[in-house]
Order: sequence, then C-alpha cells, then structure tokens
Amino acid sequence: MPVPEPPARAAAPLSVLMCRPTYFTVSYRINPWMNPDHPTDTTRAIAQWETLVATYRELGFAVDFIEPEPGLPDMVFAANGGTVVDGMAYTANFAHPQRRPEAAAHERWFAAAGLEVVRSVEVNEGEGDFLVVGNMILAGTGFRCSTAAHDEVARLVRHEVVPLTLVREDYYHLDTALAVLDARPGAEQIAYLPSAFDDASLAELRRRFPDAIEASEEDAAVFALNAVSDGLHVVTAHGATRFHAQLSSRGFVPVGIDLSELLLGGGGVKCCTLEVRPASMAREAAA
Ligand code: ARG
Repeated sequence: MPVPEPPARAAAPLSVLMCRPTYFTVSYRINPWMNPDHPTDTTRAIAQWETLVATYRELGFAVDFIEPEPGLPDMVFAANGGTVVDGMAYTANFAHPQRRPEAAAHERWFAAAGLEVVRSVEVNEGEGDFLVVGNMILAGTGFRCSTAAHDEVARLVRHEVVPLTLVREDYYHLDTALAVLDARPGAEQIAYLPSAFDDASLAELRRRFPDAIEASEEDAAVFALNAVSDGLHVVTAHGATRFHAQLSSRGFVPVGIDLSELLLGGGGVKCCTLEVRPASMAREAAA
C-alpha cells in the first residue's frame, strides 16, 4: 500500500502573551501535580521559561509580556488569563479563589493592547479550556470551566463551540490533554490523550478528527500535549520521545523544551502561552 503524502505543513508565526515566573512557587494545591511540600526552584523556573521565550523568538513569534504580581504564583500560566479570538478578549473567571486576581491583571493588559474586552459572567480559565482550531473552539469542562461559559463564548464568536468533558483530575484543563497542531480551516489537526475524555467526547473527537495523533500515557504525563504549534513547529515537552516521532511522521517538526520546574505547578509549554489572535480581515470588513 502506498503511504499517503502528509499534508503540506507551513509555519505561521504566532503572537503570544507570556508572564515571567518571578513569583512562581507551589504554595497551594488546586491540581494533583501540585504539592506544597515539594520544594520548587524559582531561579530554575525562570531559566527554563526564558528558554521557551528564546525559542518563540527564533520561530519569529511576536512575544508580549504581562507584569507578574507578587502573591500570584500561578500567573506564569498566562494561557488561563483569557481567550482572545478575532481581536476580542473574553476574560477569565477562575474556579479557585487563589487565582482569581489574575483575571483583572489580564483584563487591564487586554484593554491597554487595544483589544475589545468582554468580561465573562461564567466560570472559565481562558485558553486552558478553549482551544481554537479551524472554525471551531474545542471547549473543555469537568474541572475548571463551566458549560455555561461554553454557551457564553458561543454567543460571542462565529466559531462552533464543541463541548468536551474531561474525566481525569490529572488532566484538569483541556490543554493538558489535547494539542492543536494545525489550526488552519480545512487542514485541522490535533493530538490528544483518549483516556482523558468521557465516551461521548471521545466519539466526537474521533468523528471530527479521524487522523488525529493519539498520544501515549507516558508522553501525556510529561505534558507533551500542552503544546504550541505554528502549523509546522510543535513546541512541546522535551522528554516526550514517542510523541516527537508521531509528530515527525506527520510532517511536523517537534521542538522539545524542558519545563520540569513548571510541571510541579501542573503546567507546561501551552499553559505559559496565551495566543493573541488579531481581528480577522472578515471581522474588520464587517465592522
Ligand atoms: N497551577 C495551575 C492551576 O492549577 C496550573 C495551570 C496550568 N494551565 C493550563 N493552561 N493548563 O491552575
């Protein structure tokens, strides 16, 4: 049987928002990866995070920064600060009180950046559970994001919002169990961990993405799926060798990063990265 040609890959550099882990530590436990008794090394976390910033710059990404705030150790996980689609910033509304003040800091950043800010009413943690792929937003629920927030987003965007239920506490945000590899409409591709989803959600993923990469438990456990892709380069956990091979066989270029220190907070590459999607031509034309 002839091996089918992998689709043509093309890099489209992203605009991203990041937050230096100046105050990163694990002082509370809101996910199973966090253990306040396990010491963290903030200097090392900063060094690892700087490697991620340098990698994004090498890939030609536009990287912006939000000022870290003392007393908000999880603020490094900028992906949770909101969801930016078509120049509209839908604010976060954190499930846990420890992280709630992060939402206001992000809201101020969004407004200063000239984005149209829509303050959420419903509980959601930004891109932790809202992943844009093609004309869809894959929307996680089960631990942090409410289904009411899915409905709220669906009223704001032109995308179809596809609800997915997470069932494992260790994969508490959608972006810990599912990676968008190619977001281009018509060329959508994802990778995910099947055991993180309930049966109905798994059936939905298999129906919509029949050629998706199914990641192994080992790779998911080092947060390989907490990845950022420009359509060609997939920035992911460095230790996830099988996942790297899966990516290569589909024509993607894996770029491994060691964020072991941030994994102690239950985060990886994607958690540190909020994508700032500018207003699309279509939206501007309609305005
Ligand atoms: N300690 C953080 C929390 O539990 C980690 C957030 C990870 N972020 C993400 N986008 N998955 O809220």
